[in-house]
Parts: sequence; structure tokens; C-alpha cells
Amino acid sequence: MSWIIDNSLTVFQKFCINVLKCGPVPKHIAFIMDGNRRYAKKTKVEKTEGHSKGFEKLAECLQWCKELGVKEVTVYAFSIENFKRSEDEVNALMQLAKEKFQKLLEEKDKLMTNGVCIRVIGNLSLLPPDFRKLIAEAVLSTKDNKKAILNVAFSYTSRDEIATSMKEIVGGVDNHEINVEDIDENLISQCLYTNQSPDPEVLVRTSGEVRLSDFLLWQTSNTEICFAKVLWPEFCVWHLLACVFKYQRCYSDLQKYDLQKEVCCERNSRVTSFLENLQQRRFEQLETYAKSC
Ligand code: FPP
Ligand code: MG
Repeated sequence: MSWIIDNSLTVFQKFCINVLKCGPVPKHIAFIMDGNRRYAKKTKVEKTEGHSKGFEKLAECLQWCKELGVKEVTVYAFSIENFKRSEDEVNALMQLAKEKFQKLLEEKDKLMTNGVCIRVIGNLSLLPPDFRKLIAEAVLSTKDNKKAILNVAFSYTSRDEIATSMKEIVGGVDNHEINVEDIDENLISQCLYTNQSPDPEVLVRTSGEVRLSDFLLWQTSNTEICFAKVLWPEFCVWHLLACVFKYQRCYSDLQKYDLQKEVCCERNSRVTSFLENLQQRRFEQLETYAKSC
């Protein structure tokens, strides 16, 4: 199944989306796609089939977001904790993800026509080199696309991301690139894997579990969090619209907090060049992965 589909909505659903678009629409939505294995058990299929259905749901959901005018989507596809699952399941999930990234590269023209930028956030050093290469190729070849952004969190946990950010900052101080006085909330945000994205306004978790499971902990301090009681493969456009409607109802409160947070922080030239170097190193690492194998 393709990552980009355009036929999963009825006329009535499109009409309802247009009504909702009269109000504020989030620019960035994050999803914890939980419940694939319970879905597999419920429908008496293999776990891998549950994850495949999860991917199909992701493709549908991307179309709904596009129709709504949501420019950026971040999905939790594989947590560092997921490495603790059985070897068979980890291998099956890696295989599924590899096939999907391979497919993504085969459909590159479609991504370019639709202006889709793919980013992968996570600790790629924990992944097999052949998969890293696919990821790097997908990220590098779509990096200049601007119409829609999909961030795939793979081999990701928020605490690992924050720890990595801290190491970068300590390294910067040790090398005299920045001073301890330069360290603030903004600098930490800029050293996270998500440094190119605004914080998500809405985070959706399916399957009825009410926790964040180490996903975007830093980035969701002012995010409307919606817990849907359905398993991810059962998530439908009405659930998404309900989440957007919930966001619209709290919109004015969320705005007030955002304004309070908007402190004027002029970045000094030291910090600017430190961040440029960091970004450069991350791109060079991707280029190394892309050329490997
Ligand atoms: C959580 O359900 C889901 C995952 C750990 C995997 C999610 C992956 C996909 C939807 C495929 C996406 C692939 C790409 C390349 C984007 P679970 O396994 O925790 O199920 P459970 O909560 O019922 O146990
Ligand atoms: Mg789960």
C-alpha cells in the first residue's frame, strides 16, 4: 500500500471537514498509533498483519490531515522500548518498515509532486545499516519539500532525545563554541531531533491507554492531548475530527499560554553558529548512512 492515497473520504466526510476548517485548524498533529497487536488478536490474525493494518491506517490518516489542512504530522512508529519485544516481532516490524521505506523511495515522484518532506526522528545508530541507508535516502531526497511534513519517530524515546540534546550542549561548552550562560529552554529545543518543527498543537493516542510513553515529552507542554478508546487500525476520520473539535473548543486558552511563552530571545552569533554546525553534522551523518553498504 502506498503512503499517499486520495480516495478514502466520502462527500459527506469532506463536507464536515470543510465545516471544521471554518475554525482554527492545528498546523501539527502527533499520533501514538497504539493497539495494533490487540487488533490482531481481536480479528484473529498474526501480529504482523495487525502492524500492516496500522500502516494502512497511517496512510488514510495522512490523507485526512491533508484534507483538513494540517501541514505537519508526527507518528510514533517504533520506540527504543520496542527493541525489548520478542526477536520475531522486532524483526517483523523492521522488515515492514524497510518495505515501506523502499516503497516510499519507489514513489519518490509522487512525494515530490505533492511536496512531501519526510523526516525520521530517533536514534538511528541503533538500526541495521541497510535500513538506515533507506531512511537517509528518503530524508535527504525530500528535505527541500515544503507543502507537507511527515516526521516518523523510529528508534525514538523522548528521554533519549533529551539526553542526546544535552550531550550536544555539553560538547559545545567543552569546545568553547557556546557558554553555560547560553543554555536556555530555546537552546535545548533547538538541539532536539524535532528542531525544525513547531510543537504539535494536538496529540492523539489510540487504544484507550492514557499515558505518553516517552513520546515528545518536551514538545507537548501546551498540547491538547486526546485519548481515543479505539485501537489504531479502527481509528476513523470521525475520531480525528472529534480531536480537532476538542482543540477548537480550548483554542483561546491554548493561545493565551502560547503568548505567555513567547519571550523575546535574540540568539547571539555564538549560539547561531553552534546550531548551524549541529545541523550540518546531522546532515553529514545522514549522507554517510546514504552512501554506506
Ligand atoms: C503500537 O501497537 C504500534 C507499534 C509499536 C508499531 C506501529 C507501526 C506501524 C503502524 C507501522 C508504521 C510503519 C512505518 C514505516 C511508519 P502495539 O504493537 O503496542 O499494539 P498493542 O498496544 O495492542 O500491544
Ligand atoms: Mg501498545
